[in-house]
Amino acid sequence: MNECYQPIKGKIERIIDETPNIKTFVIRPQTPIKFLAGQFIELTLPGVGEAPFTPSSSPHVEDTLEVTIMRAGVVTNLLHATTVGATVGIRGPFGKSYPMDKFFGKEIQLIGGGVGMAPLRSLLLALMAEVNKFKRVVLKYGAKTPADIVYKGQFKEWRKMKGLEISSCVDSAKLCDNWDDKVGVVTCLLEDSVKEKEDKSSTIAVVCGPPIMMKFATLKLLEQNHKPENIYLSMEKNMSCGLGKCGHCAVGQYFVCKDGPVFTYAQLKDHPELWT
Ligand SMILES: Cc1cc2nc3c(=O)[nH]c(=O)nc-3n(C[C@H](O)[C@H](O)[C@H](O)COP(=O)(O)OP(=O)(O)OC[C@H]3O[C@@H](n4cnc5c(N)ncnc54)[C@H](O)[C@@H]3O)c2cc1C
Ligand code: FES
Repeated sequence: MNECYQPIKGKIERIIDETPNIKTFVIRPQTPIKFLAGQFIELTLPGVGEAPFTPSSSPHVEDTLEVTIMRAGVVTNLLHATTVGATVGIRGPFGKSYPMDKFFGKEIQLIGGGVGMAPLRSLLLALMAEVNKFKRVVLKYGAKTPADIVYKGQFKEWRKMKGLEISSCVDSAKLCDNWDDKVGVVTCLLEDSVKEKEDKSSTIAVVCGPPIMMKFATLKLLEQNHKPENIYLSMEKNMSCGLGKCGHCAVGQYFVCKDGPVFTYAQLKDHPELWT
């Protein structure tokens, strides 16, 4: 069989409960897997099926791979029911990564919503590995409630990192949550940038989250004079082969698995169907 279709075996080494419906799986593949931030893998649960996920770990770590998975349906529910020691299959990596070479010397804004923080975490770890090469790195993250925030422990560490600015918000918080950051949808965090009145024409914005969040964040970024070619969006479409062969993920002239999943808004602006 063509090796692109043949999964590499991996052992689940650790499972981290992130939120009531999101878990991070630390997987040790039989042979190391090299990937770049933004690329995705197909994860197989033997006897059940496979689904695409973007590694959330650092691309500089090859002997283990982390994927942060939200329960959505058959495969993800059964993955959540697995235990440490279980065997999974991994195909890939597939698709295009974030073009780090185009990011050097610029301000980088990462804007994440919910489990959309997974690919951004991988990119953030890659950026922080050479933070001096960027003008500024800013992370803006939103979740539904404080309980729905992923990587809670790591956010505490990241807030202490030099060269990284973080702001976060939740759609709603109860008094007992002790939430002392913003309450509102993610775009409220982008309002701060307007007040800064800085020239955003060379700023790189990387957005990942639910389609509705990506849509309104992109509209806000355009309002703030971010250039369409500097706005990067990670698109999710139902996939099968992951190789640009089956046509499952076709959008206009693009195959999301091969030409994406990372696209610029300049590439996508004529495809409103991607927002639905
Ligand atoms: C490139 C890429 C990267 C992804 N990265 C992550 C990640 O890091 N973490 C994560 O939790 N999820 C990620 N996803 C989404 C994940 O692949 C789906 O949640 C998963 O395929 C659902 O499989 P299932 O068998 O559990 O659900 P199913 O039983 O197949 O479906 C449940 C419901 O989800 C819908 N659905 C299935 N796949 C998708 C999809 N790709 N996008 C939108 N809706 C879908 C179905 O139409 C159905 O309504 C990614 C998707 C893509 C394409
Ligand atoms: S998943 Fe087969 S063409 Fe994209």
